[in-house]
Amino acid sequence: MPTAVEPKLEKKAEALREKIRHHEYRYYVLDDPEISDAEFDKLMNELKRIESENPALINPDSPTQRVGGKPREGFLKAKHSSPMLSLDNAYSEDELRDWQRRVHELSGRTDIEYMCELKLDGMSLALVYKEGRFERGITRGDGSIGEDVTSNVRTVRSVPLTVAKERLKKSAIPSDFEVRGEMLMPIAAFRKMNEEREQHGLAAFANPRNFTAGTVRQLEPSITAQRRMDYFAYMLLRDGKTYFDRQSKTMNALEMAGFKVNPNRKLAKNLDEVWKFIQSWEGRRASLPYEIDGIVIKVDSTAWQRELGFTGKAPRWAIAYKYAARGGITQIENIVPQVGRTGKLTPVAWLKPVPIGGTTVARATLHNLDEIARLGVKIGDWVEVERGGDVIPKVVKVVEDAAHPRGTKQFEMPEHCPVCGGNVVRTEGEADHRCVNANCPAKLQGTILHFASRHVMNIDGLGESLVNQLSERGMVKNVADLYKLTKEDLLRLDRIGEKTADNVLAEIANSRKLPLERVIFGLGIRFVGERTAKFLAEHFGSLDAIMNASAEQLEEVNEVGPRIAESIGEFFADAHNHDLVEDLRKAGLIFTGQKKAKGTKLVGKTFVLTGTLERHTRDEAKLMIEDAGGRVSGSVSKKTDYVVAGTDAGSKLDKARELGVSVIGEEELEKLAG
Ligand code: IVH
Repeated sequence: MPTAVEPKLEKKAEALREKIRHHEYRYYVLDDPEISDAEFDKLMNELKRIESENPALINPDSPTQRVGGKPREGFLKAKHSSPMLSLDNAYSEDELRDWQRRVHELSGRTDIEYMCELKLDGMSLALVYKEGRFERGITRGDGSIGEDVTSNVRTVRSVPLTVAKERLKKSAIPSDFEVRGEMLMPIAAFRKMNEEREQHGLAAFANPRNFTAGTVRQLEPSITAQRRMDYFAYMLLRDGKTYFDRQSKTMNALEMAGFKVNPNRKLAKNLDEVWKFIQSWEGRRASLPYEIDGIVIKVDSTAWQRELGFTGKAPRWAIAYKYAARGGITQIENIVPQVGRTGKLTPVAWLKPVPIGGTTVARATLHNLDEIARLGVKIGDWVEVERGGDVIPKVVKVVEDAAHPRGTKQFEMPEHCPVCGGNVVRTEGEADHRCVNANCPAKLQGTILHFASRHVMNIDGLGESLVNQLSERGMVKNVADLYKLTKEDLLRLDRIGEKTADNVLAEIANSRKLPLERVIFGLGIRFVGERTAKFLAEHFGSLDAIMNASAEQLEEVNEVGPRIAESIGEFFADAHNHDLVEDLRKAGLIFTGQKKAKGTKLVGKTFVLTGTLERHTRDEAKLMIEDAGGRVSGSVSKKTDYVVAGTDAGSKLDKARELGVSVIGEEELEKLAG
């Protein structure tokens, strides 16, 4: 049992928490850090150390506890203090002016000011605070009852876990209050997460909004924590009612209290100013790091809001001006399979060119045959095409009406690769078709483009046209050949002058300095994405060690399971790949790295953590096991060596007992690992 803690230590921990909260606020809310990541980590580690040595000090508001939440079997329902409403939409200036007319008529005034805010395209979420402490996060649900997603919301760094008394005072916010706002996933995080999912053979999310909804309703808070979510506040309630007398005041107060409030807002004196704001964001919205689908216009005065009231599910005092969807309707002229670096054949719709969001779209991805079946799409069909957070536009649905007759030609996946004629197969249980020819030129081009991309070897200037020329002329047969290119070679190609040639060669030369994890990622081993490459580099410390590792040894690496281990094994067993690695070694790439020091006491042992641990956060326990060479798995099976059970352990504990797996407590774990 935890013993009493010295008051001095308690003070020290609180002072550290204060500092950490301040720097989290600078970083996650203001986007303006004052210290380096390393300095921040130092503060956090210091606090973690003190708390783990003195567990009595831990409280749920500590910044160390963001990821500590335990997985839930499901979500509890929670009632909203007042209904979470939606908004009526306007699609044109006329509709907007109609709305203003109604506002004038019902309020009997014309001198109304409007707050203009971006309509963030995420998911609305209520945050309940008691005594200035974050207590509950609730999804919108049906408007009156939502789901309690507190442990997931806790992991979002722009949500303050506590609001200090001074801040409440300064902003004139009461200590018990409710904030409503939008949870969203920035586009960059969305792309990165989707890429990782695809590398792990998981289905990609269609857009950041779906990804947000999926993440907020995730049952494992540690997963939510990894997906860089953001939260913008736009309402402040007390006892279910708007607290301040103006929306503009609410926004300023929320900002003062330390919430992230969108800075792109304007208090407009009249509808002309509103319209100017709407127009000014129409073109600029693409430059935002997150998606918006319109502008929300709110009557600024709370008194007039009350006067205007609600119709059914939406307030009369606000309206959402929706920008034309970044989509368009056009006809599919053909569906053509395109071969990627893994040999995957992606069916691509060739469209009658259609302008969408400032560019002309002529191609859209259909992902795979399952997606074609889901959409029921045929060649000749009229379809709706959308450009979302992803770079490649996609077909959203078939348009069916008299003006848009249905096509009749079904797309069929070819049996032979359209690039090399090799056999095309669909592995059982997978959605994708692949060309099995290892020497398919399409694979080579895709592999080189992947190798040169920014997150891999970062060779700027090595784009599609250059890569195609290099591979078609046989000048580059694998990525190692890039390092043998000379200026004369490059000058023989189309559209390459002296300057470009020099730049490309300098970029290639520079890439030699990139660390081992990039080289591993660059090899293009199936299922080995950026994260896995990093874990492999840290675990083994050299490419040779990875090449010589057995499947069991590979599986000791964080997040590497049998499927990834098998894929790595297969890659290095291939003679061509072996030669490639040797050529890269000769080219001078970095083959060794800093091995993360690890103990050996738990090598080969698999642990499952369940319930609430008292002495460590879940992440700390995981790290402790991994640092001693052990592995942590998410589910109990016959292969599990130990289940570490905290309080309120549920079904995993039952399963362990059923299978006769040893169940231990935290102290025993410390002894085993230490
Ligand atoms: S105010 C009754 N402000 O749009 C007031 N909503 O279509 C309703 N949204 O459910 C919310 N940005 O999820 C408001 N600045 C903003 C918003 C916003 C996005 C979302 C919100 C709401 C939906 C309604």
